[in-house]
Amino acid sequence: MLEENFPRNIVLVGFMGCGKSTVGRSLAARLGNSWRYVDSDVRLAEVAGCDIPTLFKNEGEDNFRRRETQILTGLCAGERLVIATGGGAVLRDENIPVLRSAGLVVWLTARADVVVARTERREADRPLLANRGDKDLLTHILTLLGERGPRYQQAAHLIVDTSDRTPDNIAAEIERKARQWQK
Ligand code: S3P
Repeated sequence: MLEENFPRNIVLVGFMGCGKSTVGRSLAARLGNSWRYVDSDVRLAEVAGCDIPTLFKNEGEDNFRRRETQILTGLCAGERLVIATGGGAVLRDENIPVLRSAGLVVWLTARADVVVARTERREADRPLLANRGDKDLLTHILTLLGERGPRYQQAAHLIVDTSDRTPDNIAAEIERKARQWQK
C-alpha cells in the first residue's frame, strides 16, 4: 500500500544537464525496494529501436514529441516510480496535466554555466544542443532556458536547484519535501 500523503510518483522535470537522471537514481534508492527509477528517454529509445539522436534525424522533432507524450502518459499512470523526463517534456501543453496528475513534480534547475559544464562533453547525444548553427553553447542554452522557464514553472509543484550540490544531497531534500507534501 502507498503511504498516506506520500506522492504516488515523483516526476523530475528540467533542462538538459540539471541532474534528472543522477538525482532520480539516488532518490529511488533512498525510497527503498518498492520504488523504481525510470527514464522516459530510455523507454522511448527502447520502443523506437534506436537512440534519441537517430530518432531526431530520422523522424524529426515533432514525431519525437508525439512519441514522448505516449511514453509519459504510460509512465505517469504507474505508481512508486521516480520518473526522469526528457528536458522538453513540458513543451506540449497536453503533457503538463499528465505530469502533474502522476504525483509530485519537481523542477531541477542549475545555473547556465553549470549546464554548459555538464553538457559540453556529450553534446552529440543531445540534438537540441548539437544543432545550433554557429551560436556558442552558453548563448544557445540561455535562449532555451528563457523560453522554457515558464513551462517548467507551470508543470512543477516544487523547485530544487542542483548547482554545486551532490545528487544524494539533492535527493535527500526531495525526499524530505515529498514527506511534507499535501496533494
Ligand atoms: C531534450 C532533452 C533530452 C532528450 C531530447 C530532447 C530537450 O533529454 O529528451 O534530446 O528537448 O531538452 P535530457 O534532458 O535527459 O538530456
